[in-house]
Amino acid sequence: MEIDIRHTSVPFHWFGNLVAGVRFNSVTPLNATELRYLKKRRFRLASALASLANWYAVRTGIKMRVLANAAWHRHEPLMYSMLLGRSVVAAGDALLLPRLPGRSLLSLLEESQPLNDESELGLSLAVFELARLHARWTPHPWDGKLQRFSHADATVGNVLVDLERECVHWIDFETTHEPSLPAPVRHADDLLTLLCSAAVAVETESLPRLCQILLQGYSSRPVAEAMLKLIDSWEKSPAARQLAFPGLKGPRWSLLCQAAFPAACRSD
Ligand SMILES: Nc1ncnc2c1ncn2[C@@H]1O[C@H](COP(=O)(O)OP(=O)(O)O)[C@@H](O)[C@H]1O
Ligand SMILES: [Mg+2]
Repeated sequence: MEIDIRHTSVPFHWFGNLVAGVRFNSVTPLNATELRYLKKRRFRLASALASLANWYAVRTGIKMRVLANAAWHRHEPLMYSMLLGRSVVAAGDALLLPRLPGRSLLSLLEESQPLNDESELGLSLAVFELARLHARWTPHPWDGKLQRFSHADATVGNVLVDLERECVHWIDFETTHEPSLPAPVRHADDLLTLLCSAAVAVETESLPRLCQILLQGYSSRPVAEAMLKLIDSWEKSPAARQLAFPGLKGPRWSLLCQAAFPAACRSD
C-alpha cells in the first residue's frame, strides 16, 4: 500500500519520530588503557529496527537506507580501508575502529557561535573532503557494483575535524542510497544533509554564510542544481521534511532556502 505522507495521520508521524530517534549501536572505548581503538556494536534489535526505518524512509521520500547487520559488518571496514586507508578489526559481531583524531564538526559548530575562523575552517575542510570522496569509486553494499561513493548520512555528527593538522575524516558507514539513484542526486542528498544538519547547529544570522561556504566549497553546478530540486520537493512535503531534518523548524527552513538559492547560483 502506498502512503502519501502529506495526508497521513498523527500516529504515522508519531511512529516516524520514534523511528528517527532510534539508536542502532554503541561506540565505546575498548577498555581504560587501550585508547587506540573504539568498539562499535549494534544493539540486539538493530536489524529489525533498520527494516522498520527503511520501510518508513521509502514511504516518506527519505533517501537514506540503514544497512542490515551483515552488510554493515562488511561495508564499514571496507570504507575505512578504501576511503581512510585505515584497518578495522572484526571482533565477533562488533567492530574495533581505529580512533581518529579531532572532534565532530557538530561539537565545533555548537561551541563557536556565531561562525568564527575555526568553525568556518571545519566546514570548508568537511565539504572539500566530501567532494573528494564523492569522486571515488566504491562497491555498493547491496550488489557490490562499483559506483561513485555517497555517504547517505552526511551529517555534521559524522565528520571528525582535526584543526591542528587541518584534516577531517568522514566516519559512520552504516547507511546507503539505493543503487539506482543517479550519482548527482546521491551527492546532492549528501550535500543537503550536511547543510541542514549544520543549519540546526548555527545561529540563523549565519545561514547565508553557511550556504556560501558549503556550496562554493563543493563547487559543482550540477550537484547544486540537483540539491535545489531536492529542496523544492521537501518544501512540498513539510511533515516528511521534519523527520528527514529534525530540528529544522519552519522559519529556519525558510531562511535556509532563501540563502541556498543565491549561493547555489554562484557555486562554480
Ligand atoms: N573512528 C573513530 N574515531 C574517533 N571517534 C569516533 C570514531 N568512530 C566514532 N567515533 C565517535 O563516536 C560517535 C558515534 O559514532 P558513529 O560511528 O557516528 O555511530 P552512530 O552515529 O551510529 O552512533 C561519533 O560521533 C564520534 O564522536
Ligand atoms: Mg554517527
